[in-house]
Amino acid sequence: MEIKQRKLNAYTEAHSSPPDSVLLELERETNFKALSPQMISGPIQGQLLYFLSSMLQPKSILEVGTFTGYATICLARGLAKGGSMHTIEVNEELESIIRKYIAKAGLTEQIQLHMGDARKIIPSIDGDFDLILIDAAKKDNAAYFDILIDRLRPGGLMIADNVLWDGKVTQVEKDKKTKMIDDFNKKIQADDRVENLILPIRDGILVIRKL
Ligand SMILES: C[S@@+](CC[C@H](N)C(=O)[O-])C[C@H]1O[C@@H](n2cnc3c(N)ncnc32)[C@H](O)[C@@H]1O
Repeated sequence: MEIKQRKLNAYTEAHSSPPDSVLLELERETNFKALSPQMISGPIQGQLLYFLSSMLQPKSILEVGTFTGYATICLARGLAKGGSMHTIEVNEELESIIRKYIAKAGLTEQIQLHMGDARKIIPSIDGDFDLILIDAAKKDNAAYFDILIDRLRPGGLMIADNVLWDGKVTQVEKDKKTKMIDDFNKKIQADDRVENLILPIRDGILVIRKL
């Protein structure tokens, strides 16, 4: 990462509401124990997700790709009173840390954790959603969008992470993975059922609003 970008990130974090002790401890434990800890949402993205969720006050949230549960906690904190959240994670090694921090955040009642492959689990979850975060394998983004768009309520948001892929989506010659991400962004851009906005925060956050 460039020095200028690193400084901007530090400044941005220093001038945004800080994470509470639960999120700080979760980030520390993730860095210490999990493989690829950089996958965590972290303070800025987490705060953005919390803001979007709080503004929407969803009754029902779905997250695909829990990792250690950082975004899960941020999103669930915006739930409407009596609302609930489903989150799906395939890596069983992460289950204990996810459950530990959901409990520390006092969200055990609101959040249902499903361990397994999201492509198999999604059809077994009943109901529609007001807010969906797609944050698993990037190759599956288009498939998750297709499965879930009919289950997103009008006015609801679907959010996808890493859509700028370290800026590589702007390159003329794209490798296979970059092309897949670019194709996903183009697919959403062409879909007249939704409005969409890419926020150039971190690795690019695509916010899709269902009309
Ligand atoms: C980028 S991380 C998610 C970050 C997390 N949302 C956060 O905010 O910290 C992606 C996660 O998706 C999980 N994943 C990948 N494919 C999956 C699948 N088919 N079903 C469920 N989880 C999956 C990975 O194991 C990994 O933990």
